Amino acid sequence: MTRALRIAALALLPVAVVAGCRDYKPADPPEQPIAFYHNVHAGPVEKGGNAIPCMYCHYTADRSVDAGIPSTQLCVGCHVPGSSAPTALRGQAALAFPKVKGTDSTWFKEGQKLVNYWKNGEGIPWVRIHKVPEHAKFPHYTHVNVGLECQTCHGPVQEMEEMYQFSSLRMGWCIDCHRGEMPLSPKETAAVQARSSFIQRIRRLGENGADLRGLRATFPNQRASTDCMVCHY
Ligand code: HEC
Ligand code: HEC
Ligand code: HEC
Ligand code: HEC
Ligand code: HEC
Repeated sequence: MTRALRIAALALLPVAVVAGCRDYKPADPPEQPIAFYHNVHAGPVEKGGNAIPCMYCHYTADRSVDAGIPSTQLCVGCHVPGSSAPTALRGQAALAFPKVKGTDSTWFKEGQKLVNYWKNGEGIPWVRIHKVPEHAKFPHYTHVNVGLECQTCHGPVQEMEEMYQFSSLRMGWCIDCHRGEMPLSPKETAAVQARSSFIQRIRRLGENGADLRGLRATFPNQRASTDCMVCHY
C-alpha cells in the first residue's frame, strides 16, 4: 500500500470496526470433493470419534503462517495399506477401511474417491473456507504458540460433520481479542499472560520504572498489538 492509501484507509477505520461487530452468521458450507467428517476423525472416542489430534493433520499450525491442509499421502497413510510402496505399485491401491455396513456404504464410497485421487497421483481439490483478505496478515504460529486453542477461533470442530467458518474473521473480531475484551479460558489466559511478547514488553517497561497509566487506561487487559502495520501490509 502507498502512504496515501494508508492514510485513506485510516479514515475508513470506524466503519471497519463497526462492521466487525455486526452479528455474524456462518455461510452454508461449500461442497467438498470428499465428504470428510471432522467429528469422525478428531471427535472424542466416547462419541464415536477417533481422537486424531488436530495437529496430526494441520501440522504446520505452530511453525508457519498457514495451518495447512493435509496431503493425499497423509490420508492414505492410514486408509491404504502399503501406500509407502514405490509409485509404480499405486495402481493396486485399495481402501482398507471404513467398511461400515459393507463396501456399498456411503463412507466406503467417499473413501474410494480418496483412493482414486491417490492412484492418479492427484491432490484433493479441497475448497478453502477461511480466508482473510490479501491486505491483512494472520500468522497461525504466533497464535498457537501463545497458547490459544484452535476451538477459540474455529469453534467445536471435533463435533462438525461439515466444516464451516465459526468466527467472522472481521477486523473487529481480531481487535476485540487483541484488546483483551474477548473472554478466554483460564488456561489460555494464563498461557497468554506468560507468553505474549506484547505483555512481556509492557511488564519490562513497568519494571524499568516507566509510567504505564496511559498505556493501561483504556484496555487494561490488552494482550497483543493493535498497530495497523502489525496486521496490514
Ligand atoms: C485426519 C486429518 C484431520 C484432522 C485430525 C483434523 N483436520 Fe481439519 N481439515 C482436514 C481436511 C482434509 C480439511 C479440508 C476439508 C474440509 O474443510 O473439511 C480440513 C479443514 C479444516 C479447517 C478449514 C480449512 C479452510 O478451508 O478454511 C479448519 C479450521 C480445521 N480443519 C481445523 C481443525 C481442527 C481445529 C481440528 C482438531 C479438532 C482438525 N481440523 C482436525 C483434515 C483434518
Ligand atoms: C490417523 C489415521 C487417519 C488419517 C490420517 C485419515 N483418516 Fe480417514 N478415517 C480414519 C478412521 C479411524 C476412520 C473411521 C473408520 C470407521 O469407523 O470405520 C476414518 C474415516 C474416514 C472416512 C469415512 C467417514 C467420513 O469422514 O466421511 C473418509 C471418507 C475418510 N476417513 C477420508 C479421509 C481423508 C480424505 C483423509 C485425509 C485428509 C483421512 N481420512 C485421513 C483414520 C484416518
Ligand atoms: C486466533 C485465532 C485462530 C486460532 C487460535 C487458530 N486459527 Fe486457524 N485460522 C484462523 C484464521 C483467521 C484463518 C484464516 C487465515 C488466512 O486466511 O490467512 C485460519 C485458517 C485456518 C485453516 C485454513 C488453511 C490454512 O492453511 O490456514 C486451517 C486448516 C486452520 N486454520 C486450522 C487451525 C488449527 C488446527 C488450529 C489449532 C492448532 C488453529 N487453526 C488455530 C484463526 C485461528
Ligand atoms: C482469541 C484471541 C485472538 C484473536 C481472535 C486474534 N488474535 Fe492476533 N494475537 C493474539 C495474541 C495473544 C497474540 C500474541 C501477541 C504477542 O506475542 O505479542 C497475537 C498476535 C498477532 C500478530 C503478531 C503481532 C506481533 O507483534 O508480531 C498478528 C499479526 C495478529 N495477531 C493478527 C491477527 C489477525 C489479523 C486476527 C484476525 C483475523 C487476529 N490476530 C485474531 C490473540 C488473538
Ligand atoms: C489485529 C489485526 C488488525 C489490526 C491491528 C488492524 N486491522 Fe484493519 N483489518 C484487519 C482484518 C483481518 C481486515 C479484513 C477483514 C475486514 O474487512 O473486517 C481488516 C480490514 C481493514 C480495512 C478494510 C475494511 C473493509 O471493510 O474492507 C481497513 C480500511 C483497515 N482494516 C484499516 C485499519 C487501520 C487504519 C488500522 C489501525 C488503526 C487497522 N486496520 C488495524 C485486521 C487488523
